[in-house]
Amino acid sequence: MSVIFPKWINVLPTLAAVGGLLGATSVVGGFWYYATPKYFKVGYMPKQPGAGFNHQLHAGQLGMDCRYCHTKVEQSAEANIPNVATCYGCHADQRLAKLAVDEQHKVKTQFVRDAYAKNEPIEWRRVHKVPDYVRNFPHNVHVNAGVSCYSCHGQITGMPVVYQVQSLSMSWCLDCHRDPTPHLVPKNMVTKLQWVENELRQRAEKGDRNETSPEAKRLLESIHSMPPANCGACHY
Ligand code: HEC
Ligand code: HEC
Ligand code: HEC
Ligand code: HEC
Ligand code: HEC
Repeated sequence: MSVIFPKWINVLPTLAAVGGLLGATSVVGGFWYYATPKYFKVGYMPKQPGAGFNHQLHAGQLGMDCRYCHTKVEQSAEANIPNVATCYGCHADQRLAKLAVDEQHKVKTQFVRDAYAKNEPIEWRRVHKVPDYVRNFPHNVHVNAGVSCYSCHGQITGMPVVYQVQSLSMSWCLDCHRDPTPHLVPKNMVTKLQWVENELRQRAEKGDRNETSPEAKRLLESIHSMPPANCGACHY
């Protein structure tokens, strides 16, 4: 009898079903994994509460320095997000008259006054985030070494809404760590993003990485130590 169809054939449907299931799970799982925003990180731009916060207007047109709000960026690992009081300093009711703004402005900034009145924080949504298995990213070390916000966050002073410009991947960190010179600027220019963009563009156009220039040598010598490439520097 079962010459044509040997007995083991009977298990095939089961195998196929199991295989199919596994296949489907890994397709779904894979998609789930890679489709989460952090894997489509470049360009990631979450919707912010209220009318949001416009960097192009405040840091660009009005010329406010990054450190007016991100006050701890030179002293601590974390670049803090300002509290409501910082915004309220300019957007309080009493100041509206002085700003001589229109009705639309009052409406757009109302969420600031509401949050302040209720003594509640504005729930800003995080844009940049490295995974938990990466040690606390040290802003202070980078900023004090003369690496501009521009190198990692792009031209923030031109963004009405902040989005992610760089991948923040491990190879991205290491590319700069192996060869930081092209990214170094004088420390006092770190938050002057327009100046930095022009400077880095000019260096690139000249095809000149300025390695032999006295200025580049001075910048490289001024950093505290060469950036690390050993696993323990960035991982637990
Ligand atoms: C008046 C206050 C203020 C100033 C000045 C300011 N920021 Fe911000 N920044 C904020 C607020 C509020 C947020 C959170 C909302 C958002 O992400 O848009 C933020 C978010 C950011 C983020 C995204 C944070 C995240 O979630 O990953 C970056 C990067 C950033 N700012 C960089 C800068 C740089 C660079 C400058 C200077 C050129 C600057 N900021 C000036 C208030 C400010
Ligand atoms: C140093 C003063 C100052 C600070 C601090 C400040 N703003 Fe403003 N903001 C302004 C001025 C000036 C305008 C522009 C007024 C106009 O022309 O409409 C403005 C405009 C705005 C608008 C409406 C602009 C638009 O069309 O998008 C919003 C919303 C806003 N600010 C939110 C915030 C938030 C949130 C913070 C705190 C993170 C903040 N501002 C901190 C001065 C400030
Ligand atoms: C060498 C790259 C690099 C430089 C330079 C840099 N950042 Fe960042 N920034 C990052 C990374 C990476 C993160 C995410 C950190 C994390 O997940 O812990 C981040 C996160 C942030 C956040 C979000 C913090 C939070 O807790 O929500 C703000 C705000 C910020 N940066 C502002 C700045 C400002 C302002 C400057 C310049 C004065 C700057 N950064 C310079 C890489 C950089
Ligand atoms: C554009 C250049 C650049 C990028 C991008 C960059 N770094 Fe760095 N990093 C540096 C420089 C320069 C130093 C050395 C600073 C010093 O010691 O003075 C450094 C130092 C460090 C240190 C050593 C801190 C210490 O206490 O000595 C750590 C940790 C670090 N970086 C983590 C990261 C991580 C994680 C990323 C990616 C998410 C990253 N860096 C991306 C330039 C960069
Ligand atoms: C300059 C900082 C830095 C150094 C040094 C570093 N890593 Fe990473 N690593 C990162 C960052 C940031 C990520 C997260 C990348 C992402 O979100 O995709 C990461 C991710 C990883 C991952 C997760 C897989 C992946 O690629 O996403 C592994 C595994 C890993 N690192 C192993 C290592 C090993 C092993 C070493 C030493 C040879 C090392 N790392 C050195 C910053 C670093």
